Amino acid sequence: MMDNSGKREIIKEKLEKIAEKLSKSGIEVYNARDQPSYLYDETPPTLGVKAAENVLIVKPKSTHEISQILKLAGEQKIPVFPRGGGTGLSGGAVPTSDGIVLSTEKLKWIEIDVENFCAVCGAGITLRELISEAEKNGLSFPPHPGDESATVGGMIATNAGGVRAMKYGVMRNYVLGLEAVLASGDVIRLGGKLIKNNAGYNLMHLLIGSEGTLAVVSEAIIRLLPPFKRTATVAIPFESIEGAIEAVVEILKDGIIPLALEYVERKALEIGEKVSGKRWPPKDEANLMVIVDGRDEDEVVSMAERIEEICLKKGAKNAYIAMGAKEQRDLLEVRSLIYEGMKDLVVEVLDVSVPPAKIPEYIKRCNSEAEKMGFQIVNYGHAGDGNIHQHPLKVEDWESKYPKLKKTFFRIAKELGGSITGEHGVGIVKKSDLKEQVSEVEYELMRRVKQAFDPEGILNPGKIVD
Ligand code: LAC
Ligand code: ZN
Repeated sequence: MMDNSGKREIIKEKLEKIAEKLSKSGIEVYNARDQPSYLYDETPPTLGVKAAENVLIVKPKSTHEISQILKLAGEQKIPVFPRGGGTGLSGGAVPTSDGIVLSTEKLKWIEIDVENFCAVCGAGITLRELISEAEKNGLSFPPHPGDESATVGGMIATNAGGVRAMKYGVMRNYVLGLEAVLASGDVIRLGGKLIKNNAGYNLMHLLIGSEGTLAVVSEAIIRLLPPFKRTATVAIPFESIEGAIEAVVEILKDGIIPLALEYVERKALEIGEKVSGKRWPPKDEANLMVIVDGRDEDEVVSMAERIEEICLKKGAKNAYIAMGAKEQRDLLEVRSLIYEGMKDLVVEVLDVSVPPAKIPEYIKRCNSEAEKMGFQIVNYGHAGDGNIHQHPLKVEDWESKYPKLKKTFFRIAKELGGSITGEHGVGIVKKSDLKEQVSEVEYELMRRVKQAFDPEGILNPGKIVD
């Protein structure tokens, strides 16, 4: 049998030949040694996701070029790792074996269809560009899955969520159609400018959230909505998480569906303030940030005041209502930059999702287990949709102690009817946990789906399932 170094030599030679052929066809090819930033995403380095050594970076400009790359890779049985904006948190875009990183950044076309409320765009369009094009045409793209350098292709591949999922849903709710290239190089077009479509199994929704393991998304039809008219942001400090989460449930029971309903602990806010250079209004141990939208000022003010009233009843001492655009942007910025500020302090950013009313129980049980194991956890997240980000801070010997902590958290989540990942996906960092989360039958079905789309295991191998 050939040893590993022998195999790697062969792959190296194959990669050189592929690079030559692709360059001859006019496709941009680079050696990863010259562009090392393409080897990693935003996954905390503590998790030890390692990129392979022999990696080519290709930057196709069209669906046809993607198809050429995949055909060639398929013939040579060389892995292809699709990459969007590189903002993922589960190692999904990291080339974990020798092969090709297929960056979709140059698939940059966008056309807004105002009459049909949608955008037809290349996978490389960034969230920032999509929002701006929609607004230029008097429309909006309501969900906000975080980092605006994320790309449409990446957001679809990971079914990205974010703070506005509460009212407007996640990426899946905005994809009307997809063009994607299969491992075989065949191009498929799914869905269309359609609200209703029941023609057979929904392969489009199977591709959404498949993290580049089933196909490479090249183009998408993205649903747009009329623009927001008015918004208000309410910041409410609570002494304890119970009051805060009881208030979350009461707000929803009252019939208000906020754009965002975020829970943030003091320490996380302090970090967000530091990174953004912006101030948060009075804060306490447990804070809510509620964003509401409506037709006009009267409507949003009345919602904001009702939220204040509910929160005061649940033990908040005061509430701060921001109406100005800049003020609101500043608050969102403090919230959005928390992870950026915490990256180097934490072992991992978890994104468990539980039934919303179970959040206090989930956090309390986890914190108590964490304390027993010598960890301190900083929590924040999307309370309205039950999706909480737990950040275990680095402590001495965390390397040996952390796996048990993570398993304990996931077990508690399962007991409460939750999921190990509500947002960031499985990638490579939650691969072994997925096996424990789902039943054997479900896992086997997932494997067979992967097999059906990619029998040779060319696309993003080693991610989600084996
Ligand atoms: C957030 C990212 C970590 O919600 O999902 O800030
Ligand atoms: Zn999040």
